[in-house]
Amino acid sequence: MRTLITGGTVIHATGPHQQDVLLDGERIAAVVDPGSDLLSGLDADEVVDATGKYVLPGGIDAHTHMEMPFGGTYSSDTFETGTKAAAHGGTTTIIDFAIQKTGEQVRPSLETWFEKAEGDCAIDYSFHMILGGVDDQALKEMDVLVDEGITSFKLFMAYPGVFYSDDGQILRAMQRAADNGALINMHAENGIAIDVLVEQAAARGETDPVHHGITRPSRLEGEATHRAIQLALVAGAPVYFVHLSASEALAEVAAARDAGHNVFAETCPQYLYLTLEDHMGAPGFQGAGYVASPPLRTKHASHQSDLWRGLRTDDLTMVATDHCPFCMKDQKELGKDDFRAIPNGMGGVEHRMDLIHQGVVTGELSLARWVETCSTTPARMFGLYPQKGVIAAGSDADVVLYDPNSKHTLGVDTHHMNIDYSAWEGFEMSGGVAAVWSRGSKVIDGESFVGRAGHGRFLKRGLTQMLR
Ligand code: URP
Ligand code: ZN
Ligand code: ZN
Repeated sequence: MRTLITGGTVIHATGPHQQDVLLDGERIAAVVDPGSDLLSGLDADEVVDATGKYVLPGGIDAHTHMEMPFGGTYSSDTFETGTKAAAHGGTTTIIDFAIQKTGEQVRPSLETWFEKAEGDCAIDYSFHMILGGVDDQALKEMDVLVDEGITSFKLFMAYPGVFYSDDGQILRAMQRAADNGALINMHAENGIAIDVLVEQAAARGETDPVHHGITRPSRLEGEATHRAIQLALVAGAPVYFVHLSASEALAEVAAARDAGHNVFAETCPQYLYLTLEDHMGAPGFQGAGYVASPPLRTKHASHQSDLWRGLRTDDLTMVATDHCPFCMKDQKELGKDDFRAIPNGMGGVEHRMDLIHQGVVTGELSLARWVETCSTTPARMFGLYPQKGVIAAGSDADVVLYDPNSKHTLGVDTHHMNIDYSAWEGFEMSGGVAAVWSRGSKVIDGESFVGRAGHGRFLKRGLTQMLR
């Protein structure tokens, strides 16, 4: 199958260019100036007129949780529903988190994730491994997993008794990463201190969803970020902060980067747009739909403007969603009388490309930075470049046709994620996905999914390509 996408503006991480793109089989065969002799007389099976549209490398969402167990339930998107929704939003690769819980073994835990995903994904996928119990066996497994293409490991400074690692365990895992080249992904919140605040709030009868946020102050993300950076420097390992939400944490990352250290961070759309007061503090039980960790931050501080600035200046290297959806019915409702029982997480895998594009529309980011933070850098950060994350000859033909002039409104009635509410209800989007190809196969045509579950392949990843 040969597809010629002609007349569009290709958005590279280096800037926009008027270029024609030829997809041949599963790969990009050529990226050439319009009217180039190279493509004259070419017999394409489909010619796509991209006039007035952007041609982007497929989005890479490096932080998702499909079918993730949490608090007695499972996140509500399967690998099938979640990857179809991702495709609708212009994401063609996800990196999900396989989980070793405290007390479980790494290998069988990972096998469970392979079983969940295999044959179900509509787009390509890979895994990070959550280490919920850093012991000698887990440290040995890290080396083996790196050889098998699972080259990043998440550790938690939060959730004592569930996923939590203490500083000694973190240091040992970082030392191992310094040896085997892995990248440690860090959930940086001081979970021991948070648990004290949570118990005190509960004892005072403060049980509404907003107290989830109030008991997880941004200082405790800043503190944990600082500590993790020091541990990484002692170990001589790079560190990557997931779901960075707060100015204090950003300041720690920025200072470390200014000092030349291999310290990286992602943020997520929810921290750029939603707030503790307006969303987690919404009337009744609605706020439960926004309960995630770290929590949404107060609007009475500069968190959001700082995060946008961080994205511009590269103190924040990329954007992921932390897609971890739970329905209101029977899931978020578990915490109706006590915020401690609300499953933590929000859904958004479908909306990341659109939501960050709004930053282009409002002048926060350039087109190039949009693509860099949502596709090219995720590929480099997690060892997938140049197979993914770039429109270049030889790369996988993961391509998004994006119409900057279309408009749509996000909401539960139109989204494709398996969630019975939308955290993004009523958000008006300028621009939208017009078509998506995954390894040369069209998977989205306008509003329709035209791909198939099982098309997605597991991606063995290399080491991070971001070290300096
Ligand atoms: O609340 C969240 N973020 N749930 C998903 C698990 C995690 O910590 O990323
Ligand atoms: Zn986390
Ligand atoms: Zn997460």
